[in-house]
Amino acid sequence: MKNVILGVSGGIAAYKAADLASRLVKRAIGVDVIMTEAAIRFVGTATFRALTGRPVRVDVFDEEGEITHVELAQRADLFLVAPATANTIAKLAHGLADNLLTTVALAVDCPRLVAPAMNSRMYADPAVQANIATLRDRGYQILGPAAGRLACGEEGPGRMLEAAEIEDLVMNLLEASDGLKGVEVLVTAGPTREHLDPVRFLSNASSGKMGYALAREAARRGASVTLISGPTHLRPPYGVSFQRVTTTEEMFHAVMKRFSASRVVIKAAAPADFRCGETRREKIKKQGKELSLTLVPNPDILLELGRRKRPGQILVGFAAETGGVEEKARKKLRRKQLDMIVANDVSGPENPFGADTNTVTIITSDGRVESLPSMSKDEVARHIIDRVEGLLRSR
Ligand SMILES: Cc1cc2nc3c(=O)[nH]c(=O)nc-3n(C[C@H](O)[C@H](O)[C@H](O)COP(=O)(O)O)c2cc1C
Repeated sequence: MKNVILGVSGGIAAYKAADLASRLVKRAIGVDVIMTEAAIRFVGTATFRALTGRPVRVDVFDEEGEITHVELAQRADLFLVAPATANTIAKLAHGLADNLLTTVALAVDCPRLVAPAMNSRMYADPAVQANIATLRDRGYQILGPAAGRLACGEEGPGRMLEAAEIEDLVMNLLEASDGLKGVEVLVTAGPTREHLDPVRFLSNASSGKMGYALAREAARRGASVTLISGPTHLRPPYGVSFQRVTTTEEMFHAVMKRFSASRVVIKAAAPADFRCGETRREKIKKQGKELSLTLVPNPDILLELGRRKRPGQILVGFAAETGGVEEKARKKLRRKQLDMIVANDVSGPENPFGADTNTVTIITSDGRVESLPSMSKDEVARHIIDRVEGLLRSR
């Protein structure tokens, strides 16, 4: 089990650290929380103890029956302070060790990260900026801060990154492999929308979850990832270059623009096959009678990519079919000149659209077939990216 020390200092964003601790525990990470005296004025130790199942430490002298601060430091695979106050940042920059958090910071032998969180004027103060620069020079990774509305009501940089973003970063560091280092990977995700009029559109039930999981996994392995996504409710993975599109034609152009620079293209999107022959500028009024729509075919992105593919490029497609899945997927693989296709049956009891799990069969152009049991889309992504790595190695 990997262990993370989560240092929590005394800022409003301390409540976000509880969410972060919970997320890391769900990822099977052991979380040792160290709080400052100021932090426990914001969130109680009981919250973190309950979330992590481990004792929460505040006092440097309170080691009776606990592992010592040196042992705590030694077992850490990552040291993270979130939120990091201006005060704690100053202490870390100057090597002070006047509480357990700052003492342990000096004793760890693992990557150290801080996520500053403070009022934007505090953040802009030259002393704070100089302290952050010192930490960066000493190898600390500085996460954020983001700009936005702050707890004090002001706008500007100083917001702590969201827990989900920090989770991505932490997992990237802990699980980092460099199997795809330097590889340009293009992923598409989500549905597209084809408007009838300004308020109505044709679309489908794709949530984008599979594509986002693939982008996240490829980035975790060192790839340089571009994610082109139709409308979804998902947060783009941290460290991924992100482009949002609406229609299939927009997705087509965005993908074609990036295609030649991409070594691997994974088309997990479900772009609409048809668009309206005519998009009305004004809302179509109810007239109590039938309304006929003329649909015209959209460009077939995958087919076009297969045609334009250069030797060495790897093209991965998805096939959501109802019945005869494997046979249909094989045909699609051949017709669209893919290197790999990930097939799933959308007629079964487990409809993958929008779900967190998926049951897929992976077929490669060399004829190998692997049927996976039902698993989370994150796990499916790991299997797919393992296969992509294998294909790259065999080229
Ligand atoms: C309501 C309240 C909110 C605060 N929020 C922040 C904050 O977001 N960032 C910060 O750097 N300090 C903030 N402070 C000030 C710190 O709590 C103070 O500097 C404290 O000494 C920090 O101690 P620590 O770094 O040991 O946790 C806040 C103080 C109060 C009373």
